[in-house]
Amino acid sequence: MKKLVLLIAVVIVSSFSTDTLLAKGKVKVDQALENATRQYLYMRDELNGANKFPKTYNKPMQRLITSNSEWWCSGFYPGTLFYLYGETGNKDIYAEGVRMLKLLEPEQYNVNTHDVGFMMYCSYGNANRLAPQPEYKDIMVNSARSLISRFSPVVGCIKSHNRKPNDYVVIIDNMMNLELLFWATQATGDSTFYDIAVKHADTTLKNHFRADNSLYHGLNYNPADGTIKHYQAGQGFSEKSAWSRGQAWGLYGYTMMYRFTKDTKYLDQAVKVAEFILNHPNMPKDLIPYWDFNAPDIPHALRDASAAAINCSGLLELCRYVPEELSRKYIKAAEKMLHTLSSPEYTAEPGTNGGFILKHSVGNIPSGTEVDMPLTYADYYYVEALCRYKSLNNIK
Ligand code: GLY
Repeated sequence: MKKLVLLIAVVIVSSFSTDTLLAKGKVKVDQALENATRQYLYMRDELNGANKFPKTYNKPMQRLITSNSEWWCSGFYPGTLFYLYGETGNKDIYAEGVRMLKLLEPEQYNVNTHDVGFMMYCSYGNANRLAPQPEYKDIMVNSARSLISRFSPVVGCIKSHNRKPNDYVVIIDNMMNLELLFWATQATGDSTFYDIAVKHADTTLKNHFRADNSLYHGLNYNPADGTIKHYQAGQGFSEKSAWSRGQAWGLYGYTMMYRFTKDTKYLDQAVKVAEFILNHPNMPKDLIPYWDFNAPDIPHALRDASAAAINCSGLLELCRYVPEELSRKYIKAAEKMLHTLSSPEYTAEPGTNGGFILKHSVGNIPSGTEVDMPLTYADYYYVEALCRYKSLNNIK
């Protein structure tokens, strides 16, 4: 009898293998990566050597919209190129990534935004992962120094945006910048970076979550004593609503915190956010969230492919740290997200969409910018999710 139970258990466990998931052909990962590579070569051609970063695509005007290196998203295009190079070995893709790094270099000294983490880690971090170079290390350490120059021990957080002198705005997105700090401690042996990352995450854990485990987008602290002045709707529908990308940053950010610290309070929090997202009654069946879980016009509200891509990549890491039943649930959900994102509904026809891989992201509805447009970070986290999904084969 015991043997029979064991046999059944072995059959169940082996049927859970991600080989099966991939073999089912639900998500054709290699095909999606090849498609993405073709699109990014097309985007490179559209950029045509300009010293600019792709931002989005204006469909009616058929025009690629670009930015300079100071835009918070400047690291995503090179970062995606490096992920694609890592998967395909395409040298043209790599060369374009290296070209963009040169343009980003001055941002290592940018002390005016928390986004220096996104900008420099998604770009140089991926380049350094593939081919470590002393100059990349120096640039990233300088970037980490710029980032921690914004930390206040009184508030216990890194300031996100510069506003008025008595404002100290911290947004949940800031969790994503902490990855650079963990890297910096590993690279230099200086624990200052690590300690600041942990303090920021702890303060955010204490203040940014509501009782239902949803997240505020922004808090404005009093810089003199660290008390909360007020909550901010930010890019969400309202101060009380759950802005979808904010929830996604929280899911990804606390999963990443657990990766570096192994502190289970971060893992618990990541699971709580994941459960909030996946079990929400307003989450559509295809798992591409509306731009805000409390958008007033659901089910007619716009979907946000970028939030789905971040959720997907976050879940594909979180599934590695949780018990099997939960892991199975998260892989299944991520697979569904990848499947939908890879369908013609969200993946652009080759040679269209300005070279962006995905359509239908929502940047900032309250300010009316980048609404239902392609976005570099949607592409970045989608490609990262494809890579993570593929590599699950090797770890299970
Ligand atoms: N960091 C800004 C955003 O998520 O749109």
